[in-house]
Amino acid sequence: MFHELEDDGSGTPLYRRAYRRIRQMILDGTLPSGRRLPSTRTLSGDLGVSRNTVELAFSQLQSEGYIRRRIGSGSFVGDSLPNAAAHARRARRPVGSGTAERPVLARRTTGTAVLSKRGRLAAAAAPDPEADADPTFGVCRPGLDVFPLHIWNRLLARRARQTTRELLDESSPKGLGVLRRAVAEYLVASRGVKCDAEQVIVLTSTQQGLDLAARLLLDPGQAAWVEEPCYIGARLALRNAGARLVPVPVDDGGLDVDRGIHLANDARLAYVTPSHQFPLGVTMGLSRRLELLRWAERSDAWIVEDDYDSEFRYAGRPLASLQGLDRSGRVVYLGTFNKVMFPSLRLAYMVVPPDLVDAFAAARRWIDGHSSALVQTVMADFITGGHFGTHIRHMREVYRERRDALTDATHRYAPSRIQLGPADGGLHVVAWLLDTVDVRRIVAGAAAESLYLRDVSLYYATSPPAPGIVLSFASSAPHVLRRGVRILSRLL
Ligand SMILES: Cc1ncc(COP(=O)(O)O)c(C=O)c1O
Repeated sequence: MFHELEDDGSGTPLYRRAYRRIRQMILDGTLPSGRRLPSTRTLSGDLGVSRNTVELAFSQLQSEGYIRRRIGSGSFVGDSLPNAAAHARRARRPVGSGTAERPVLARRTTGTAVLSKRGRLAAAAAPDPEADADPTFGVCRPGLDVFPLHIWNRLLARRARQTTRELLDESSPKGLGVLRRAVAEYLVASRGVKCDAEQVIVLTSTQQGLDLAARLLLDPGQAAWVEEPCYIGARLALRNAGARLVPVPVDDGGLDVDRGIHLANDARLAYVTPSHQFPLGVTMGLSRRLELLRWAERSDAWIVEDDYDSEFRYAGRPLASLQGLDRSGRVVYLGTFNKVMFPSLRLAYMVVPPDLVDAFAAARRWIDGHSSALVQTVMADFITGGHFGTHIRHMREVYRERRDALTDATHRYAPSRIQLGPADGGLHVVAWLLDTVDVRRIVAGAAAESLYLRDVSLYYATSPPAPGIVLSFASSAPHVLRRGVRILSRLL
């Protein structure tokens, strides 16, 4: 079993090569756990090395836990290695050998075959193909061209120069107190949210909040209402957590609660965008909001309110949140800075009922710890220094102008071909196509002209009522939007 060690010309010390040889035999199962090893005298003869060399190799193996030695009874392969050895044995079997699993390396070449069921679901959600580009109409993109970079840079530089030792350390998974307080004040004043800073948890993204809510509030197989049509990120987070998705139709008044009750009264969770339904842009009326809250209370279910872009209303004041109407602590509220500020910021927040704060914080802790303390501090400075309020007011004007440019151009260049959905808030609008057209062909033709159109059917679990595309007006200047509409009209 033990052959003489040959000189491999590597200059590696003999004891090291003896150690590696024995370790390999343990790992690949040739020496199973519990097996007694030959004495150092026997082994030194087999390997053709001195006893001292074997002694050194044994003590290294012992200190790493591969073998255990007992004075008077000898040396044995460690007991805690059976899985590693068995795993290595399986991995060595050639492809197609009997009923055994295929070797790890061979399976790896087949891509997703190595993944768990959940992993396969997650991997099937392809990344956004436009992620690196900057196309006209790009969905979910804020107007980075007008972001007050000089203010942000100034605040960032000041904090970077004055970084304290405290900022270098790990911090609470709930977020820094200074930012949680600033967020709570903002939400109470601007969004009608009922909360204090203790209920705020700082996140990386809304997506992280959706993921946490899905994992913490749902067991696999339980039903969750999603809007029909629905934000893809929400559908994926819930689906990846094993939820049974129940698409509930949205009409002019938002999610149809009666239909939801009819379809799955036993649902444990409902995901909604009540202030500005994504992507249709409708607002959930008061009676529907109250109905939804009553259902959640009756059924002990949760409501996840995604308030992703309601800072931007172009008619009247921003609408108050659904969370503000909740009397029984059934709403988990999500908001994000990644759209109001800029996408690479990776800061968002959730407001959870007081008795859930610790559970969410603990779960967050074991996912990724916490958000960057430096970035949280700068964001808090941006808010408390009054820049956030000014920025929102300014962006509202910029986006209103862009929205107007898009709607005017549509009426001018494609009046009989496009009907726009509600556009009194947010950063995008749905353009319903009045002719029977092949949306995929239009989307592909537009991409060649650097226009990013998203087929509205992507958001539907069933079929959309008509062909349509989602157009975001936020990231492009008015003249760019006008050019985009002219090209779109030609393609139609
Ligand atoms: C409805 C909705 N919620 C949330 C988000 C994204 O937020 P975050 O980047 O913080 O995950 C988007 C993205 O555009 C969205 O459309």
